Amino acid sequence: MIIQKTENSRISTFDPNNFSFGGTFIDHMIICEYEDGKWGDVKLVPYGPIPFTPAMMGVNYGQACFEGMKAYKDKDGQVFLFRPEKNFERINKSAKRLAMPEVTEEMFLDGLKALVDIDREWIPQGEGMSLYIRPLIFATEEALKARVSNKYMFAIVATPAKSYYSEPVSVKISDHYSRAANGGVGSAKAAGNYAASFYPTQLAIEEGYEQIIWTDDATHEYFEESGTMNVFVRINDTIYTPPTSEKILDGVTRDSFIQLAKKRGIEVKVEPIPVKTVIEALKGGSLKEVWGVGTAVVTTQFQALGYQGEKLALPRLSDEESFAALLKKDLVDLQNNLSEDPFGWRVIVDHALETV
Ligand SMILES: Cc1ncc(COP(=O)(O)O)c(C=O)c1O
Repeated sequence: MIIQKTENSRISTFDPNNFSFGGTFIDHMIICEYEDGKWGDVKLVPYGPIPFTPAMMGVNYGQACFEGMKAYKDKDGQVFLFRPEKNFERINKSAKRLAMPEVTEEMFLDGLKALVDIDREWIPQGEGMSLYIRPLIFATEEALKARVSNKYMFAIVATPAKSYYSEPVSVKISDHYSRAANGGVGSAKAAGNYAASFYPTQLAIEEGYEQIIWTDDATHEYFEESGTMNVFVRINDTIYTPPTSEKILDGVTRDSFIQLAKKRGIEVKVEPIPVKTVIEALKGGSLKEVWGVGTAVVTTQFQALGYQGEKLALPRLSDEESFAALLKKDLVDLQNNLSEDPFGWRVIVDHALETV
């Protein structure tokens, strides 16, 4: 790895109690360019803009995918990544689906560790604090030709993140728009999936909701995901989540919730969730909670479901009664080294710079 440290660190301007998530970037970034059929050297360089032309293929034809993951600092200042191999596997799955070159494990994991290590001072400490990390791959060839690009960039940038607390939200069950289709790119973390979701989300917001529960494109009769999260439904004391498929992103938080729930002896059923079953359970009183999970906020609980023009209120559970709250605490404690790690999910970042 080629390491070029910044001579103008901005760390003294960073106030961990007052910063904008997603708008504050750490001192460095990782970049690596792909040309002539191979990846070049991985470079750790000062964070900043890179020159590009509007004829860059990535912004014209959308060959771009990314990952979202976090690093956590415990009370002793030790830094951990959480299941980074899952993000490594997923970025390559996305790259393959978008006909982009896959990255090597070394590029991805060593790049991550080196970046987090050099900028460890930027990781805020304490409840809800973390460093949000964004690895991405995009097409960089300058060509207005609708074909696979011959040049790419792999990059990793990162922004400090705070409180994962989110108020319960109202979600509209989609009866027209879809996030993904059979044979499409729903299981890839393709940049275009997010672009396609913004307009339907804007419409849902105009109708008084915060998010959309995406349903299957063919019939709109089955739950798929919620906003940019995987979805869980609890009926009585059993929790349900749809199986992953080519339409559903295989979320790291989803998988972690399933394993944590099983460890607690909670019954988990990974099976299709018919919208009708959820509405009937709500009307009959057996629906206890519905929530979304993802890296950014861990859990968002839902307070109402929009269905066929009606806003149906969900029960309000206390944190003691809520499986969503219980499992969130299990996960956050594990991520922050406040509990045992029987699954081996934490990966310590220790002197990474010396070994790359
Ligand atoms: C569409 C979509 N589904 C699910 C998730 C949750 O995935 P993860 O738990 O790996 O963050 C995300 C978030 O990144 C997402 O964008």
